[in-house]
Amino acid sequence: MPNEAWFHRAVAYQIYPRSFADSDGDGIGDLRGITSRLDHLARLGVDVVWLSPIYRSPQDDNGYDIADYQDIDPVFGTLADFDELLAGLHRHDIKLVMDLVVNHTSDEHPWFVESRRDRTNARRDWYWWRPPAVDGGPPNNWRSAFSGSAWTLDEATGEYYLHLFSRKQPDLTWENPEVRQAVYAMMRWWLDRGVDGFRMDVINMISKDVTLPDGPVRPGERYGDPGPHTFCGPRVHEFLQEMRREVFAGRPGPLLTVGETPGIDVADARLFSDPARGELDMVFQFEHVDLDHDGSKWRRRPLGLVTLKRCLARWQDGLAATGWNSLYWSNHDQPRPVSRFGDDRPEHRVDSAKALGTILHLHRGTPYVYQGEELGMTNMAFRSLADFRDIETINHAAEALAAGEARDAVLASVAPASRDNARTPMQWDAGPHGGFSTVEPWLAVNPNHEEINAAAAEADPGSVLHHYRRLIALRHQDPVVAHGSFELLLEDDADLWAFTRTLGEQQLLVVANCSDRPRQVPFDGWADEETVLHTGPKGTEADVLGPWAARVTRRVVGR
Ligand code: GLC
Repeated sequence: MPNEAWFHRAVAYQIYPRSFADSDGDGIGDLRGITSRLDHLARLGVDVVWLSPIYRSPQDDNGYDIADYQDIDPVFGTLADFDELLAGLHRHDIKLVMDLVVNHTSDEHPWFVESRRDRTNARRDWYWWRPPAVDGGPPNNWRSAFSGSAWTLDEATGEYYLHLFSRKQPDLTWENPEVRQAVYAMMRWWLDRGVDGFRMDVINMISKDVTLPDGPVRPGERYGDPGPHTFCGPRVHEFLQEMRREVFAGRPGPLLTVGETPGIDVADARLFSDPARGELDMVFQFEHVDLDHDGSKWRRRPLGLVTLKRCLARWQDGLAATGWNSLYWSNHDQPRPVSRFGDDRPEHRVDSAKALGTILHLHRGTPYVYQGEELGMTNMAFRSLADFRDIETINHAAEALAAGEARDAVLASVAPASRDNARTPMQWDAGPHGGFSTVEPWLAVNPNHEEINAAAAEADPGSVLHHYRRLIALRHQDPVVAHGSFELLLEDDADLWAFTRTLGEQQLLVVANCSDRPRQVPFDGWADEETVLHTGPKGTEADVLGPWAARVTRRVVGR
């Protein structure tokens, strides 16, 4: 087997601490809340937990704006609570991966406070300061991912600083070796404390084109897209190789490094995750979650199954020989998959959530389950712009309203796409606030928690939760799932998602009916093959899959 590694058999689970479990009754999830729910993770069988940021932060972007990398935000608890959580996870043999947000800091981080003090201080070039353009405006036309210009003028020193995200998230200058060494030292500090790796936030944006050229402007837009000059800049691989040497070399493992890398293609991913190059174990690519909109996430367009499955198959093929895929349907930035790629109407919600889980977990790569996905949690029915808490949504809505768009139209465009869909609190039970908290939470619980919740799923052997357990166990037990080669079948079929995984003479055939009608499966002898998993309604005939049904079969094939 080429490049076999422990994480080829592993499944990770992402926790968004703010929305997972509130132990102290302030309406916000916290570390002790997570510790109180370790059984849920252990029973699910996951190998790794990735925690979204818990560091000290003004919470402008819910913790992705860090003011102290080596302390816990009081809203989440203390370092002692953290150590207790880490020990608890390790007792269950679950690794803990931290979120590493080092493309930018908070504007309240002491590094930036010092940097903005005057033009000549020692930390000035830790960030991207530039004089105004000749007309006094920003140094270039880049748009911030959270609306408006990516530059803010600092009145006191008369220069602009760059922030590809909010104005409270100034970008660090990785060109400066002192910045890099400070980041590496912080990473070593966490590893010394016992953590098992990092999920690296927008890590392909740390190297930028230092000449900061304007980005392309789409028709009708005011700002330019920084992407061509900020994604995978000239030194990104050099920086990651240096990080590997300075932070990870010689450490007892196993450790996990996974990079969040928007805008990359398969060839980039191969470079990042080729073990021989010593950069990252794997990356989160964005192609499959960018298919249902057009340039802007707020402009949705219909997505056909053929496009989606071909996209994932291309990644399977592209990283078959070198590199490794991460597999995900959702995270804290994406709408809920059952509402987006499945069918969240009551009659299809459970089956489509199980079908999507089956498809993803039977691909080759390391699957990431985002909290609540294992319950088939859905998008929220947002009723008003006042319901949103996410800075990206709020800024976009304000900009659209200011441009004259009608309120209803703005609500209709943000509701299905907003990151808040993923951030509504975890639905633990049917009680008040879904068992998440004893008080009104920071973001409302989805009213469907009365039906969709962990307690109900636990009690129902046909639930999404029980199915996810089986999928995770299958990866652990069956080498074909972890290592088998991948082949997409029925490429042009608009309803059936079918593929094989093959290892030696062992083959798994996965077929899912991604439609709300029964479908005949056109494979000879398929009905008689040994069943590994079968979910959803049985068809009337043996070779028919009911709506959103999925079946995995095993067969022996000639060499
Ligand atoms: C990543 C995070 C997202 C955050 C952004 C800025 O995309 O996943 O939540 O807003 O980076 O840190």
